[in-house]
Amino acid sequence: MEKHTVDISAWARTNPVFMTAKTSVCLMARSGIPDADAIVRRLGLDGAAEASGMRDDGTLLGNELVVEAKYRAMCALIEASGCRVNVDLPCGYTPKALHLTEKGLRFIGLDLPIVAGEAGPALLALADHPERMRFEAVDATNPDSLAAALEGVREPICLTTEGMMMYFTDSEVDAVLSNVRSLLEGRGGCWITPDPEYILQFALTFRAVLGEGAQQKLMASRDAAAGQSDAGSLINAFIVNPADVPASVARVTALLSAHGLKARRVNLAEHVPELAAYRKLTEAQIEAFRAAMRGCHYWVITPDDQWRGRTEARPDGAFTMDFRVEDGTFRARLGGRVDTVTAPELLKAWEAEQGEKPLAAAEVDCSALQYISSAGLRVLLIMQKGLGGAKVRLTGVSDAVWEILETTGFAEIFAVERKA
Ligand SMILES: C[S@@+](CC[C@H](N)C(=O)[O-])C[C@H]1O[C@@H](n2cnc3c(N)ncnc32)[C@H](O)[C@@H]1O
Repeated sequence: MEKHTVDISAWARTNPVFMTAKTSVCLMARSGIPDADAIVRRLGLDGAAEASGMRDDGTLLGNELVVEAKYRAMCALIEASGCRVNVDLPCGYTPKALHLTEKGLRFIGLDLPIVAGEAGPALLALADHPERMRFEAVDATNPDSLAAALEGVREPICLTTEGMMMYFTDSEVDAVLSNVRSLLEGRGGCWITPDPEYILQFALTFRAVLGEGAQQKLMASRDAAAGQSDAGSLINAFIVNPADVPASVARVTALLSAHGLKARRVNLAEHVPELAAYRKLTEAQIEAFRAAMRGCHYWVITPDDQWRGRTEARPDGAFTMDFRVEDGTFRARLGGRVDTVTAPELLKAWEAEQGEKPLAAAEVDCSALQYISSAGLRVLLIMQKGLGGAKVRLTGVSDAVWEILETTGFAEIFAVERKA
């Protein structure tokens, strides 16, 4: 198989994080996960793990253990979920597609276009059941791309996310969480992810098997991942801090809850089967590794039925609005995208109410607002001019919308309250 001919340079400059998936499948091949080696060869990737900056055997071994434990535990959890469809976001080049389809499940691999475009042909060519798998290009933060990729899938899905959430900013995490909620809400199923406790899994694994020098090797791994992603610290609101597990578990739980999701943490030690990488360990190291995995959990996340929040925000980012007038105050709730096409609806509502009787105040709940263009901002300005001196109050403003308000100078013009 010839080396991939895609011009990766432009991609590497715009979003280098996709390179991490190549390291991941190379580590899977080194540890001995079935089919990983065939995928590596098919993609012409030999040596990518070493090339990522992990040069010594200890660092490689620590990474192999993390990757294999994760792979096998996730496969077991997917099968135990009872769902017949695994939607893997991001799929990278994982042999999971082959393993699960052999077991009779359907596999839908979602990743950035360059990865989905390469992984698809490679895995379909190696599959005994290509009819059970497909690969789609998406951006996990973009609801339209996800809705399009899963169009026609109506049954419960087991959505899985391994090795992605740490690369996002807090506002991207918010976008992904509301997308997850939307994907599950219509279909049922669950979202399983090791990502909140990924630092713990690394730290516990390295400490258990590498002894002295574990910390240094841990840092080498972190630098390799950060170097491939341009993502800085690899920490955000979704990631548990090993220095304060109880408080940060509570923080992540609250974040999920704000998005209408609830979590159950499953102990990793109970789901790691015999690993191929154990052949590289002593009995004492295996024991220490098994014991250490008791300190780490994977998260099984489902929609919270009690949640009465932002159900009006549709997954495709479609505009939604409801409004009422109370005591001379115009109160509106906006969802999705307010842009050139949709902003006139807000203007019409405002003008109709203003025509009835003059309004003294306006409050806009933006907690489900995903995007506002200059057309939408212009309507808010028209509303403010009609208030005779008072400011339009915007509440629940997300980081993404705040950024728009700030860069356009409107953050100073309206009374803005950001999302907690
Ligand atoms: C560390 S790899 C993990 C891949 C795979 N889950 C695995 O375990 O091998 C990170 C993956 O996240 C994908 N990714 C990064 N940002 C993304 C986004 N916004 N939407 C979808 N995928 C994304 C990258 O393309 C890459 O395949």
